[in-house]
Amino acid sequence: MSEPVHIRLRPMGVDIESAKGTPLQDLLFSYGVEFPCGGHGKCKGCRVRVLEGSLPLSPAQEHMLSQAERDAGWRLSCQCTADNLTLELAQWEAQILADTSRFSFTPRTGFGVAIDVGTTTIVAQLLDMSRGEVLAVRSALNPQARFGADIMSRVSAAVEPGGRERLADVIREQIATMIAELLQAAGDPTRTVTDVVLVGNTVMHNLFCGVDVTPLSYYPFEPVSLATVEFTASGLGWEVPGDPPVRFLAGIGGFVGSDVLAGVFATGMHERAETRVLVDLGTNGEIVVGNRDRMICASTAAGPAFEGARIYMGMRAATGAVSAVRIEQNTLVCHVLGNVPPRGICGSGLVDAVANALRLGLIRAGGRFEDGGSSLTLAAPVKISQTDIRELQLAKGAIAAGIRLLTREFGVEPPAVHEVLLAGAFGNYVDTGSARRIGLLPFAAEQIQPSGNTALLGAKMALFAPAGTFDALAKRIAHVSLSELEGFQDIYVDEMIFPGGEPETP
Ligand code: FES
Repeated sequence: MSEPVHIRLRPMGVDIESAKGTPLQDLLFSYGVEFPCGGHGKCKGCRVRVLEGSLPLSPAQEHMLSQAERDAGWRLSCQCTADNLTLELAQWEAQILADTSRFSFTPRTGFGVAIDVGTTTIVAQLLDMSRGEVLAVRSALNPQARFGADIMSRVSAAVEPGGRERLADVIREQIATMIAELLQAAGDPTRTVTDVVLVGNTVMHNLFCGVDVTPLSYYPFEPVSLATVEFTASGLGWEVPGDPPVRFLAGIGGFVGSDVLAGVFATGMHERAETRVLVDLGTNGEIVVGNRDRMICASTAAGPAFEGARIYMGMRAATGAVSAVRIEQNTLVCHVLGNVPPRGICGSGLVDAVANALRLGLIRAGGRFEDGGSSLTLAAPVKISQTDIRELQLAKGAIAAGIRLLTREFGVEPPAVHEVLLAGAFGNYVDTGSARRIGLLPFAAEQIQPSGNTALLGAKMALFAPAGTFDALAKRIAHVSLSELEGFQDIYVDEMIFPGGEPETP
């Protein structure tokens, strides 16, 4: 009988028991890893990086992988067999947004870690606080994803017996691993860490901090607590040199968490006279409207269409995804990530596809296909269905209605907004022209400003800010429940329609 072996997959933290010599393709396929060229060693789409253990290089791999890739431990999983290993999956890496912005700071001594805990991905940076310099970056899939893709399914999993502890354990364990990897990547695993700051949405905050999320499962969806929670690394069971304090920053209210608060701080909108709008486009969309005198915020459940979920051929923005669609000579032309045959479509591709199909008159304002068909082929075999368009209408309707309601509540018309700051990965990868064409962003092109990972930037700035700065800022932003505003239902239904029914020239 073959020797038993153990494989650990990062960033998901999945453990696989198998027999030595089993093709990795067979094992990884059942964990969602795709093999774009069918496992023939011709596309690099199935790359894995060996973090522990070793995988021999075959001639096909030597041909496909550069010397630098081979030296860094990259292998083609379709050409390898099982052994005792820890592997990092390249397919989970695409379009995770870190932050490289410059920011002003007062130097401090020591080394800090800033972490953006997203529902789907986690991004962490190690900083030399005397120079404000980022020494290392790690990103990982949120391991809670195995309990459900969106925040409400995490809440459901957490209210099961033992669920709260399970969800806290997996995220804490993942972040401890990432901090160790940051120190390793910066060349000194024993370096003393002086401060760790985490930001995330309300559910991420509550789950990490071990707060009871039961009240988030029913109306009016108010968290038990969104206050800043401070731990020590050792109190969390982490072995971090220096045993630093670990702070999860306060949220604002409802489903608007410290990721948005950090975004407000990072963009400086709370210090400016002109009115700005900050929008984080995600499964849970968050919107802040305000200036230095007044700020209000709200969240809106957009559903998972922007992440490619619940879409017929939807997928994450990874190898093989149609990520952009343009018009050439009156036909739709697709860009596929990774230079491989198309196998699905991600959120930014879907927005482009629908925007350009509207421009060509292939889709009506109400969302139906002009020819009465049930789908539109983009690049065989990838197509979008009528149901996909409905999902996108729901998502864009929720965001656009949220923007309309919140700007109205603030007392500003969208054309009078000084700047619209788009936060988060989707907001930075989506084509703003397409977003405007489908009516997702009711603003002029020159108003819209993709702003990167403002949550991570804000978390870094929190490492340098005086104590209490973020708590005081949170108190200045009033949370508004959109569903309680007059006309909510009508505006939502109204915003599901695509603007302008006539075909137009792009
Ligand atoms: S699937 Fe392994 S190289 Fe294409």
